[in-house]
Amino acid sequence: MTLEEKIGQLQQISGDFFGDDGSSVTGPLSSYQVSKKQLNNVGSVLGISGADNVIKIQKEYLTNNRLHIPLVFMADIIHGYKTIFPIPLALGASWNPELVKKVAAASAAEAAAAGIDVTFSPMADLVRDPRWGRVMESTGEDPYLNGMLAESFVDGYQGELPIDQTHVAATVKHFAAYGAPEAGREYNTVDMSEWRFREQYLPAYQKAVEAKALLVMTSFNILFGVPATGNNHLMRQILRKELGFSGVLISDWNAINEMIDHGVANDASQAAAKAIKAGTDIDMMSFAFLGSLEKLAATNVEIKRLIDESATRVLQLKETLGLFEDPYRGISAEKEAKVVLSKKHLDLAKKAAEESIVLLKNRQHILPVNSEKSIALIGAKADTGDLLGNWSWKGDVSTTRTIRAAMATHFSNLAFENGYSFDPSDNETDLKKKAIALAKKQDVIIYVAGLTASQSGEASSMTDIRLPKMQLDLLTELAKLRKPIVTIVITGRPLDLTVVDQLSDAVLLAWFPGTLGAAAITDILSGLVNPSGKLSMTFPRSVGQVPIYYNHYNTGRPVTTSPSDKNNIYLSKYIDSSNDPLYPFGFGLSYANFTLKGLKLSNKVFGAGETITASVNVKNDSKITGTTTLQWYIHDLTADVVRPIKELKHFQRIQLAAGSEKTAYFKISTQELSYIHSDLTRSSDEGFFNLLVGFSSETQLETTFLFKN
Ligand code: IFM
Repeated sequence: MTLEEKIGQLQQISGDFFGDDGSSVTGPLSSYQVSKKQLNNVGSVLGISGADNVIKIQKEYLTNNRLHIPLVFMADIIHGYKTIFPIPLALGASWNPELVKKVAAASAAEAAAAGIDVTFSPMADLVRDPRWGRVMESTGEDPYLNGMLAESFVDGYQGELPIDQTHVAATVKHFAAYGAPEAGREYNTVDMSEWRFREQYLPAYQKAVEAKALLVMTSFNILFGVPATGNNHLMRQILRKELGFSGVLISDWNAINEMIDHGVANDASQAAAKAIKAGTDIDMMSFAFLGSLEKLAATNVEIKRLIDESATRVLQLKETLGLFEDPYRGISAEKEAKVVLSKKHLDLAKKAAEESIVLLKNRQHILPVNSEKSIALIGAKADTGDLLGNWSWKGDVSTTRTIRAAMATHFSNLAFENGYSFDPSDNETDLKKKAIALAKKQDVIIYVAGLTASQSGEASSMTDIRLPKMQLDLLTELAKLRKPIVTIVITGRPLDLTVVDQLSDAVLLAWFPGTLGAAAITDILSGLVNPSGKLSMTFPRSVGQVPIYYNHYNTGRPVTTSPSDKNNIYLSKYIDSSNDPLYPFGFGLSYANFTLKGLKLSNKVFGAGETITASVNVKNDSKITGTTTLQWYIHDLTADVVRPIKELKHFQRIQLAAGSEKTAYFKISTQELSYIHSDLTRSSDEGFFNLLVGFSSETQLETTFLFKN
């Protein structure tokens, strides 16, 4: 290969360069002019799909590429291709790694049939700040849960290596710590100690890398003072050396050039040099590699060697994808039509929505709603297909069933009013009046509130995380009618639901539930399905509590339950709010009622190489079958560095028939006790630990054990 051909492999461009006007544009456009010759050599393209389309573009490309090296087609398949599954934050609330793996496999099957080889998923970023709209694409705030689910995504997308024609390669993103921008502002500074990074942020990426994800994407942010895309320590030392990642490192969109704005490069050439030296293999859309590497290599043997290294990785990826054997990976329009939106995928989308929806409140068992009752269904969100959420590029909102339509199939006595609008030019008073008049006549009010897809996702940071004012005002008026109110919330991020909680008898958090979301909501409302979702991200009482997360440190002045703490102001607390969240991590109700008792340990003391087993009895104390997630947490009482007040270490989804019970177990080894010490190494040390267990992070039972080397 010539130097020019090798550099071509390292440049990624968007589909419009190949004349594809349906290609997705997910970042700013550069004015760089790509010559015809350069176009014939670029190694990858993003945002193109559709079997016929891909076949046409690949065919033409192969006739123009001297060595007939196929293009690789990449795209953001984040929660489904055409069958849209609940957003990743909702999938996090399923606490079901097997389900997530199936969702990823179905997404991969549709994407692969549509000609896509690589997806830019999973996003393994740990998130703690709902002001950041991109939390929707994460699975939440916990290192352990995120790690398990990141692994499931990778396994589901990739299947066995080498990748077959029904799977795609996975890209772990955004390395690293993109989920921690200051003030929740998109693309903002990230700054944390390397200790905290290794302890909390690194584990989920690590799990995905260990699951053999073939690509990693660099993040836009700085970390330890240096933009990730040019961060040698982060990429060469931590990612490549310590995590053993040997796949392709792709930059995020224009991230190489953005090193100029970050103020660590004078120009694109310097930025390109920094990026390739740090180990970035592919330049997505900044054209710094295409425009600068050849000149740099002419005088710099190290760069020349790095170009070889990166080009080799890209070619290896193509080989693992089977592109040299079949550049089309077996696609055809007929096959695509069979796979996309298949019954199997739609059924899975329904199941995933059912397991992701979280019941936050259910006063006096107002839910499920008796189908005999007359229902006032209110809210513009009930009458729209905008239930798919951000990053559902090929999902079709216009054909997505609305909540109103789905509910009409089950509840015969249903009347509807919009009540509010997302269009500021609509007459608010009029909408409100009609809704109240309707509500007055019915037994129960089902109020559907929430955000639009573009209000959660990339570039949608918010300083106010309450529902839109028009929606809250209407809810306040509806509450004055003193009728039972069930509020359904459609959102891609935790919201401040304090007022919603006060004014509603029941609150059902549906997230953006995807293509079959409306059917899942209906089945939960009617009681055909018993809700089982548990929050994977804390819901604050107000934006002022953010960032708020369950696994925080104790501080030197913690607030305890002792009555004397009430009047002590010199504690780590607010003077205008409690420290507690509105809904804690791990929380979610069921129509069934579960109880816990008899927490036991096989031993109170254990040593290196040994394990102890904890057991507890879980009972379904109700008259219906239900599923809950039992959560096991550990608190290291004294250590070399401060330790979180509790950390999730194990969980199990448990289904129990009415009145039945079972014993659940957790085998504890030194692995569960290890942590990052002040010298940045991971190990476990002797001492006392609390073991806590419950149905949310607000645990119910606890006991203590000793680890002795
Ligand atoms: O994959 C995305 C990334 O998450 C954000 N910037 C654009 C990329 C490609 O669309």
